[in-house]
Amino acid sequence: MRLDGENFELASIALDRTPLGKKDYKLSDGGLTLLKPPAGPFTLEIVTFVDPEANKALSGLYRTNNVYCTQCEAEGFRRITYFPDRPDVMAVFTTRVEADKDEAPVLLANGNFVRGGDVAGTNRHFAVWHDPFPKPCYLFALVGGKLGCVADTFTTMSGRTVELRIYVEPGKEDRCGYALDALKRAMRWDEEKFGREYDLDIFMIVAVSDFNMGAMENKGLNIFNDKYVLASPATATDNDYAGVEAVIAHEYFHNWTGNRITCRDWFQLSLKEGLTVFRDQEFTADERSRAVERIADVRTLRANQFVEDAGPLAHPVRPALYHEINNFYTPTVYEKGAEVVRMLSVLVGRDGFRRGMDLYFTRHDGHAATVEDFIACFADANGADLSQFMRWYAQAGTPELTVTGTFDRKAKTFRLDVAQTVPATPGQPVKEPMTIPLALGLVGADGRDLPLVRANGARVARGVLTISKPAESFTFTGIAERPTLSLNRGFAAPIKVSVNAGADDLKFLAAHDCDPFNRWQAVQSLATGLLIEAVTARGGKPQAEAGLIDALAAILADDALEPAFVAQALGLPSEADIARDIGREVDPDAVFRARRALRERIGGALNDRLSALHRRMSDNAPYRPDAASAGRRALKNACLDLLAADGGDAGITLAARQFAGADNMTDRMAALTTLSLYDRPERAAAIDDFYRRFAGDPLVIDKWFALQAAIPEPATLERVRQLTAHPAFSFANPNRLRALIGAFAQLNQTQFNRPDGAGYDFLAETALALDGKNPQVAARLLSAFKSWRALEPGRRARAEATLRRVAAAQSLSRDTADIVRRALGEQTADDGRS
Ligand code: BES
Ligand code: ZN
Repeated sequence: MRLDGENFELASIALDRTPLGKKDYKLSDGGLTLLKPPAGPFTLEIVTFVDPEANKALSGLYRTNNVYCTQCEAEGFRRITYFPDRPDVMAVFTTRVEADKDEAPVLLANGNFVRGGDVAGTNRHFAVWHDPFPKPCYLFALVGGKLGCVADTFTTMSGRTVELRIYVEPGKEDRCGYALDALKRAMRWDEEKFGREYDLDIFMIVAVSDFNMGAMENKGLNIFNDKYVLASPATATDNDYAGVEAVIAHEYFHNWTGNRITCRDWFQLSLKEGLTVFRDQEFTADERSRAVERIADVRTLRANQFVEDAGPLAHPVRPALYHEINNFYTPTVYEKGAEVVRMLSVLVGRDGFRRGMDLYFTRHDGHAATVEDFIACFADANGADLSQFMRWYAQAGTPELTVTGTFDRKAKTFRLDVAQTVPATPGQPVKEPMTIPLALGLVGADGRDLPLVRANGARVARGVLTISKPAESFTFTGIAERPTLSLNRGFAAPIKVSVNAGADDLKFLAAHDCDPFNRWQAVQSLATGLLIEAVTARGGKPQAEAGLIDALAAILADDALEPAFVAQALGLPSEADIARDIGREVDPDAVFRARRALRERIGGALNDRLSALHRRMSDNAPYRPDAASAGRRALKNACLDLLAADGGDAGITLAARQFAGADNMTDRMAALTTLSLYDRPERAAAIDDFYRRFAGDPLVIDKWFALQAAIPEPATLERVRQLTAHPAFSFANPNRLRALIGAFAQLNQTQFNRPDGAGYDFLAETALALDGKNPQVAARLLSAFKSWRALEPGRRARAEATLRRVAAAQSLSRDTADIVRRALGEQTADDGRS
């Protein structure tokens, strides 16, 4: 019988109370094998010593800011004791925690509190917790330390009272209110939307300041990066508040999708993560604005997942092999995984989706399931054939649809010819056709949708065609006027679409499409077209932007639109978006120039309207974090950004005034971000002022680090180097690393991609220095190289040389070796674990 275990000292091991000797077991790389385990049931007692203080990988049992805590997903439990560390081994855990009373007055573990008390004759105390729900060891958690607590209760749909507690660093209790409110709303929503009730007597969240990820769903005892718990108007932006709400909901929703029903093995990771991301996105859509949430989610999907899918790190939603599971908590598993669940809900409809989920919960509760189990529930509950749909889990690469619309005025028909391809990806040269729900509308000249009636007289149900062949055609009848095609409405499928439509069609859709997502998309497409033209023409200035400006003006003039939506429409595609759409031989400097020039032209052309709107969206009411207020601030700050786009006195003065007068972090940070883009004296003054105001508040100083790392100027690399020596910086803290180094590599396209390669070298140096201590974070930082092959030849050569240097370094961690080898194309995953 083999048990996993590493990085601790074995003190003793006994079988049915009899101590075992060296001949009874074998210790071998990363585990212990019992040589003659009894055939029947037996009791194994293992005593180990672990050193939390020395644990800089932040996996297993470690110490953060005087608090002991654990992180066991994916394979951290084996750093605490010997155990079958695999998710299909589910056990009932009883945990007794004992500690010095002064050092750790609070002692927590999974499940319900059983008893606690003093240890006679010592200054120690103990607590016993029992979790009646069988679970895999990756969901185990314990915490001990000095912690402040905010408590509340929640009454479940069946009338049970659940105690709620959020534990934070003492003194920060007043920043927990929003997290607690979000938790109660998430609990109610899961009851209402999915019939899911909470199942223990108590639900606890502990916020810690050193954490590799965002948060972790340990049963009954979630452990959070404090960035996703703490929020106050003066220190958190609207985006931070939204992040707290989404992460609290996400981890809570795992109680059913992940914990009660877990994964059979780590290949099924998307079974819990993709599904739970879908659930948290739906929660946010219901709590805030569905259209705005969809736009934000698609922006992230394209920025992270489409890029991954188009580069050397591409892999299926359910990978077939891996070297290091920690490297597979990816945008593909999470975000594309969520899109696959969303497509399922489109294919079977809202009620059919609920029937499938209900069946999943009844059929698999208490078990470790697979993707096949999940999909079978939707097939069985709806009598649907989803066999071809399974390809979404197996084939990597973003499918591409080419659509041609042909209007026949005489026959009053409109024909769609649809062809699909899936690009080759590492290890998958040839692809099969996918099942794709294509949501569409034919928009008439008056802006209204024309009825979709097929040649056989059938109405297209819910406006969704199901594409399943390499090429197919659909003819709609009774079409008297040439319609405008609105394709992939709501972005129902995570694909790329190209269609025979021009700028006039986009302008029309931007003004009239009843699908808000496609109104936004039309503006984006107009802007992308101009920007790509500008970059590839090498002139650096987009021509003929009148169509885009008219479209934006129409949106600004439409009072029916919510401010948060208008803010999204004003936000041009990012530099990374443009680079992705160009796809090859990218010159980040040319992209930067084109984007800056277009912002300046828009700001100039719409100046009066933007100024008026900036004023209209400003109010003196006290800060409230709700979606409507946040939307007004988002619009105000989108206006500010364009008004300052020429770097001239008027806009900069407006920004400087907003910075100084702001009563909340959203407005202050937005003004500072705008100022940071222009080398003027106001910038340095504001950066210094910001530091003085918030010195001593690490989460706020992270914004200060990230902002400086993102300045698109050649001096930035040296500034970032110097900031690594700043007293507020620490290589041991993942939030600091992500704020300074991560922001530089991910957000600063021109400076990370400096033509001299110094940005690449800096990232490599930093990651190598970190790799021996925290390999998970080191590997994640290096994933900034995921699209190096799309760069122009000079940068491409330098990026490749840097990656080769990292790959050749001595004693690389498994995490980092895997990322760089795959980035170099030296390894697909075909010699990994399968
Ligand atoms: N289960 C994960 C946390 C995790 C990831 C633990 C990787 C160990 C390794 C958790 O549910 C999660 O997905 N957290 C996300 C945030 C979420 C809102 C998508 C995270 O930590 O980034
Ligand atoms: Zn998750």
